[in-house]
Amino acid sequence: MAKRSSFVVVANRLPVDRVTTEAGQEWRPSPGGLVTALHPVLAKQRGTWVGWAGGTGEAPEPFELEGIHLHPVPLDADDLERYYEGQSNATIWPLYHDAVETPVYRRRWRESYREVNARFATAVDKVAEQGATVWVQDYQLQLVPAMLRERRPDLRIGFFLHIPFPPIELFMQMPGRAEILRGLLGADLVGFQQRLAAQNFVRLARHLLGLRYQGNTIKVDDRTVKAGAFPISIDVEEMEKLAATASVQARAKQIRAELGDPETVVLGVDRLDYTKGIEQRFKAFRELLSEGRLSVPQAVMVQVATPSRERVEHYQTLRVRVEREVGRINGEFGRVGVPAVHYLHQSYSRTELAALYCAADVMMVTPLRDGMNLVAKEYIAARADAGGALVLSEFAGAATELRQAFLCNPYDPEAVKETMLRAITVAPSEAKRRIKVMQRHLRNHDVDRWARSFLDELGGA
Ligand code: ADP
Ligand code: F6P
Repeated sequence: MAKRSSFVVVANRLPVDRVTTEAGQEWRPSPGGLVTALHPVLAKQRGTWVGWAGGTGEAPEPFELEGIHLHPVPLDADDLERYYEGQSNATIWPLYHDAVETPVYRRRWRESYREVNARFATAVDKVAEQGATVWVQDYQLQLVPAMLRERRPDLRIGFFLHIPFPPIELFMQMPGRAEILRGLLGADLVGFQQRLAAQNFVRLARHLLGLRYQGNTIKVDDRTVKAGAFPISIDVEEMEKLAATASVQARAKQIRAELGDPETVVLGVDRLDYTKGIEQRFKAFRELLSEGRLSVPQAVMVQVATPSRERVEHYQTLRVRVEREVGRINGEFGRVGVPAVHYLHQSYSRTELAALYCAADVMMVTPLRDGMNLVAKEYIAARADAGGALVLSEFAGAATELRQAFLCNPYDPEAVKETMLRAITVAPSEAKRRIKVMQRHLRNHDVDRWARSFLDELGGA
């Protein structure tokens, strides 16, 4: 008999990922912003987290981790290919990110998405107490709210989308679009990162299903469904404390020394994803070097590109392009022992990431589209010295809040170059002023506040 809980979070991934290595199996923190944000929330609430444990085959038995009860859901090799790599990451992900890569549509993927969503709903049904609150996460599980409501009308169901929600014209491309929309409308509250996304959703409900709405409340049969914007954040205090430790500060100094003590360290930290604008920032850096407006070794760039979705074709071709560009820049502008770009296709501990943030003079966050972008927030929180400068794409959700960043349009190469140079050459007093304003904002808008505001609204829905 599964352990029952009054608060259940369900997400595609658990906070830890079971990885098979030569040494056997080990658990690693799962990649991505969803886990970064939800882990501290769940650890405080002591609820149950339902999700995939990574890998294929039988799911591990439920277990406890830092006060969270983890309830694994299995995926087999076909599910992985069709539900996760296919429908979730080659159809929905690009479509919801402005179709910056062409979405691929396959009937078999859609069927698999339906089957796997039903499996997650069944797992939640098993672990949710009578009248429990269930919080469904992200684009991989958009059918779960309606599936759960059908089985368990006693539950209070919230849904939060971590990525953008597209305008009607784009959403209408998707085969099976009405099923997705009905899936989401199974929730009592549907949360988005941005106000515009919530508006897209309520307008879509009228356009596609003829539903009536007032403000952000949609009438669905005899129920109402609320939509709203709840911009996600990070555990600000945790990052501030971590970055201020003597070991992180020492490591930051060491990183700069290992880079040859350049005048300017430019940093990028992203999953290796085509939405992140990694190529755009390399191009800007290369052109600034070739125009002689920057030079090596005075300026160096470090790009951490976490491996992600490596079997999906768009990601494979991106990797080839990115690595070719790194080779080109280093070939043209590097010297023996002095590369222009340090490219790291690896995962790091939070301690190492904090040290990298502290070591960077300029943080480049240039996505073509991003629901929020937590890296931008982590960088600001890490700078206890109020040093550094953040270059931020206008198309990241974070740009709505971090207005004192150096904002730019990543589609405009000249704009990226000029903004990067402005960030490199800003007067220290002006840089400090900007960072401090953003730090104040983040302290008042941390991940706890995000979770509380969503759950309060859900409670009253
Ligand atoms: P996304 O959710 O699309 O991956 P975010 O910027 O919102 O983008 O969140 C990324 C999260 O993953 C951040 O918390 C960041 O610290 C973490 N992260 C990014 N790169 C790495 C890495 N190489 N190793 C470990 N964690 C990483
Ligand atoms: O919202 C960002 C997100 O897509 C999460 O849903 C996801 O867990 C994370 O990034 C990492 O992606 P993946 O789970 O496909 O490795």
